[in-house]
Amino acid sequence: MSEPERANAARMYDHMLGGAHNFAVDRAAVARVVASRPDAIRATWETRDFMRRVVTWCVEQGIDQFLDLGSGVPSVGNVHEIAHAVDPAVRVAYVDNEAVAVKHAEEITAPLDTVSISQRDLRDARSVLGAPGVAGLLDLDRPVALLALAVLHFVPGDLGGTLTPYLRHLSSGSVLAVSHASNDHSDPELTARLESVARAYGDTDAPPTLRSRTEITALFDGLEIVPPGVVDLTDWPEPRPGIEPIGAYGAVGRV
Ligand SMILES: C[S@@+](CC[C@H](N)C(=O)[O-])C[C@H]1O[C@@H](n2cnc3c(N)ncnc32)[C@H](O)[C@@H]1O
Repeated sequence: MSEPERANAARMYDHMLGGAHNFAVDRAAVARVVASRPDAIRATWETRDFMRRVVTWCVEQGIDQFLDLGSGVPSVGNVHEIAHAVDPAVRVAYVDNEAVAVKHAEEITAPLDTVSISQRDLRDARSVLGAPGVAGLLDLDRPVALLALAVLHFVPGDLGGTLTPYLRHLSSGSVLAVSHASNDHSDPELTARLESVARAYGDTDAPPTLRSRTEITALFDGLEIVPPGVVDLTDWPEPRPGIEPIGAYGAVGRV
């Protein structure tokens, strides 16, 4: 791929996690993000660690299928690696709309018959659910963990209805896991930090939309949110004294 004109969240995230699948324009954008929020790299690793805890929890609940929307550039500790450490039979269907993320995921998943990658836009649920890598791998008559981690803040506009078509297809016992950046905090300094980061992402190809805790909670309408509820993702599933909040909410709900 030739040098892109604009930075992209998938490749910036890859750079923040120490990966090599990014361009100069992405690295320059990360430098602006870090200038606006000195703990940006810690926040990225905390986001990733939330994913690890959620995936492990799902497998321990007996869920052996994952649909990972906005899966990103494969990096350290991918969903299938975390899941396979507990149960090697787990199936993982990755979905992302970014070419570099998809290409690298194709290389990694090619030898594995329990893992797929589909290049799709998550806003088109029919296309995602009909993709051969999804329809051919997952059995929607059995429980699935639907992951939308650190991705929905890159989807602009009203999210109402974005996840509904997925949830409608999932069987009882399935779960939805979300992490989402927010500017809705009791600590004004944390709110200011998130808004500063969002501005720093402003000239990337998908500037983020920060949403309130109420809007993020509404993504779980009709589901049973598991304890501890919608919390700073550093505090899921239990508080971690001494770890500062990063300003992104995380939660899991049962279908
Ligand atoms: C910050 S990364 C998160 C990666 C991973 N979910 C994690 O938590 O480590 C966000 C990913 O969402 C992808 N993405 C953004 N908008 C998307 C869309 N509309 N459809 C599919 N993927 C999208 C980006 O390409 C990027 O790879």
